[in-house]
Amino acid sequence: MKNIKEAVAYIKNQLDFKPEAGIILGTGLGGLVKIMEVEKEIPYDDIPHFPVSTVESHHGKLLLGTLNGKKVVVMQGRFHYYEGYSLKQVTFPVRVMKLLGIKQLFVSNAAGGLNTNFQIADLMILNDHINLQPDNPLTGANYDKLGPRFPDMSQPYSRKLIKKGLKIALTMECNVHQGVYAVVPGPNLETPAEYKYLSIIGADAVGMSTVPEVIVARHMDIPCFAVSVITDLCYPGAIEEVKIEKILAAAAKAEPFLTELMSKMLE
Ligand code: HPA
Repeated sequence: MKNIKEAVAYIKNQLDFKPEAGIILGTGLGGLVKIMEVEKEIPYDDIPHFPVSTVESHHGKLLLGTLNGKKVVVMQGRFHYYEGYSLKQVTFPVRVMKLLGIKQLFVSNAAGGLNTNFQIADLMILNDHINLQPDNPLTGANYDKLGPRFPDMSQPYSRKLIKKGLKIALTMECNVHQGVYAVVPGPNLETPAEYKYLSIIGADAVGMSTVPEVIVARHMDIPCFAVSVITDLCYPGAIEEVKIEKILAAAAKAEPFLTELMSKMLE
């Protein structure tokens, strides 16, 4: 708790700012930054107690500014479990954003498509998730001031925000689905048998992020909205060797639509 407060104090000292919404930019949402009026950029490395970037990951930054008229705090770059961070480290920025004042959390990610209706570069609005990571960001002492010991998960993603997202999607020239996101630890992609298993247990898409952040946000009662960009297809007949270039190309194709969807969500 002390660490969270110190990080918040540092940020407020840079710019006295009360964001209404928090945004975590995953693969394929870089475009959002271009339409944002950035007032202040703070490198993660400068913020007390923020996880220290690993060699292979990008040096991320926190952006404070306005998007579509709303005050937002944006995480440009996120932390993943597969990089070696604990889930407490991965989710520390969400705690900080809550204390900065956010009332909603928006998240994006890249994911493999398990649902046979999905095509590459489609979007999927998450309506639920399955946590398959071998850890939970809420284990250990509970901070009763932040949230309950046993937080409810009956509505991990806000039904109100999903409804709004689906309405916006109707006006877009892009396939937008809704479905269940399974999170795996990574970093390897899945075997065909694992994809089959994920599909059988009810997942429509699989990825390596988002769920820890959403668990921590829900612990603090923040309504969440998350979108996956489907970057590769993981059902029988469609499975191919996954190449990072192909994933990035799919994410780039979907970027304008994801940017449009997220920015209209703030209206
Ligand atoms: N599996 C897990 N994570 C992913 C995938 C996948 O197929 N595609 C993009 N992120």
